[in-house]
Amino acid sequence: MNEHLAALLRPEIFDLAAYVPASPPGIVAHLDANEAPAPRSAAIGDAVRRAIAGVTLERYPDARASRLKAALAARTGARAEELLVGSGSDEVIALLSTALARPRGEAPQATVLTPIPTFVMYRVTARAHGLKPIEIPLDKTWDLDVPTMTRAIELTRPNLVYIASPNNPTGNRMTSDRIAQLLDAAKESFVVLDEAYVDYAGDSLRAWRAKYPNLGILRTLSKIGLAALRVGWLEADADLVAQVDKARQPFNLSATSQAAAAAVLEEAWDAVREHVTDIVRERERVASAVTAMAGFEVTPSAANFLWIKTPRSAESTSAALRDRGILVRSFHATGGRLAHQLRVTIGRPSDNDLLLEGLRACVS
Ligand SMILES: Cc1ncc(COP(=O)(O)O)c(C=O)c1O
Repeated sequence: MNEHLAALLRPEIFDLAAYVPASPPGIVAHLDANEAPAPRSAAIGDAVRRAIAGVTLERYPDARASRLKAALAARTGARAEELLVGSGSDEVIALLSTALARPRGEAPQATVLTPIPTFVMYRVTARAHGLKPIEIPLDKTWDLDVPTMTRAIELTRPNLVYIASPNNPTGNRMTSDRIAQLLDAAKESFVVLDEAYVDYAGDSLRAWRAKYPNLGILRTLSKIGLAALRVGWLEADADLVAQVDKARQPFNLSATSQAAAAAVLEEAWDAVREHVTDIVRERERVASAVTAMAGFEVTPSAANFLWIKTPRSAESTSAALRDRGILVRSFHATGGRLAHQLRVTIGRPSDNDLLLEGLRACVS
């Protein structure tokens, strides 16, 4: 690279790898990205199509996303002024890394604390914004290691703490008492509870905001069948939201996404809930079938994917599945205790049947 241009780049950027979604040829079952499959009901697609047909194409979108926020508020119980809406929760994570980045004391950089393994964008976004990620391994049951995280909070005083629950890639919910202990320990940090998969898990912990003013709840429509819209949001203290919102591009969310998401929330939410119920039923069917196969272990999942320990290496298992047209995420490259781990999204029943056949073939 040209040396003058290279000198302009933040050094951390050189260490990052570009996100390139895998797309080998011949794939029939895409079970690698934690998207939901297409729903049975036409109601969701119909609501989206009607909404998009009504968009005024020559005008900029509503910079305040007022209708969408009202629809999210009505569905979640939040107040509209407590909501920061982004182009996916990825954008919200980036906005937090921009706004909540003031170094503490003498430290040259603000720090961001996360457990690992978890959603990689916490680390990538922190680094890309010049923040320092601190990563603490989850315990043997893939739950929070509270003593070590508490020590890290005391030592590094992170600006941001991310806890995904259910966690990606492990699929489990973090136990509530451990989350509470971390919230008690991190009173000087903004703690983001990322509930991207909570629709598959039961109740949100959003009511905890009444006790913990430093708690933010991160949500998305991506995992429940609307990934194409790129709509995610943070629910947090209204004063904090008003400040972080200043760092947002005014037209970050397209008019088509705003209109389509609002329409689904307003008119087709029953169909979304039914779709979630279908996927949970499939998740339990697939989890039982994989658990019954010799040598496989499945972590109990509260999400729309399974975290599977494979008897052979995850690399060879995922390659064998790929040869059958099934794409899953292997964590072999991370090594250590992840060398035998696959993350498999629950797909259409026919995709899930293909997966089960493929896994059975791996062990027979
Ligand atoms: C835990 C978690 N948070 C956030 C996201 C990002 O979702 P979005 O599509 O809303 O950017 C993902 C996507 O995989 C995720 O797994």
